Amino acid sequence: MQDFSEHLNFTKELAFESGKILSKYFGNISSIKKKTSSIDLVTNVDIESERLIIKSIQNKFPNHTIVTEESHLEEKNSDFKWIIDPLDGTTNFIHNLPIFAVSIGLQYKNNTVLGVVYNPAADKMFHAINKKGSYLNDKRIFTSSSKTLSESLIVTGFPYLHDKKWEKSFSIFKDFYSKTQGVRRLGAAALDLCFVAMGRFEVFYEFNLKPWDICAGSIIAEEAGAKVTDWNGFKYPSSGKRIIASNRYVHDEALKVLKSNASEVFFD
Ligand code: IPD
Ligand code: CA
Ligand code: CA
Repeated sequence: MQDFSEHLNFTKELAFESGKILSKYFGNISSIKKKTSSIDLVTNVDIESERLIIKSIQNKFPNHTIVTEESHLEEKNSDFKWIIDPLDGTTNFIHNLPIFAVSIGLQYKNNTVLGVVYNPAADKMFHAINKKGSYLNDKRIFTSSSKTLSESLIVTGFPYLHDKKWEKSFSIFKDFYSKTQGVRRLGAAALDLCFVAMGRFEVFYEFNLKPWDICAGSIIAEEAGAKVTDWNGFKYPSSGKRIIASNRYVHDEALKVLKSNASEVFFD
């Protein structure tokens, strides 16, 4: 089996350095622009953090492919693909809410082999390597052992696009609310996944995410014991379209809620 520990050390250092950029601008943003809609925002901080990450990867691994939220880079003929969100939780960041992170995942032959999610505001670094467990600040973490939804606290998020799916998603939200101890919406999908990994939440579900929102967080959740699938309960949703991550025990019960409410608009 290939050893990815050198890649991991590089990635943790990189997340830490880009975290320094996020910290420097926290409470002090110089530019906010609208992307696809009036609530889909990008700041100078997203861009600066991304620039550092791209430059560092290109210096060290010039032949690797890089997929990142704010830039479209040419795909290389390589088995390695980096999947990056330079600032997950931009809206929180803009409002001085310290729930945001840098998220860096690495795929080898289309399988995620490592993930790092770093929240500089709390100095919390999550990492995982395939088959080697998940860690928070280098201490092993595990998913919770709750066996039913009625004992669960769960988390979700909503897309920027307020279309038909978004309308329908409130029936899912309501159903989960009635069957669990509560539903939270924190605003940073990468951290939502890490919080499933460390047992704070039993379930995270969302639709219309992108690969960079979930790549690193998913391996961190899985290596801590989570099950991560699409809403049909089968494969890993690499596109980010419909994801559910759970502590395993409540996965089937949560899938039933999704399936019973998710009409065809979700599966078009
Ligand atoms: C967003 C966050 C949020 C989720 C949105 C994402 P961004 O990412 O992860 O929790 O609900 O759908 O787009 O835009 O802050 O990188
Ligand atoms: Ca994101
Ligand atoms: Ca982002």
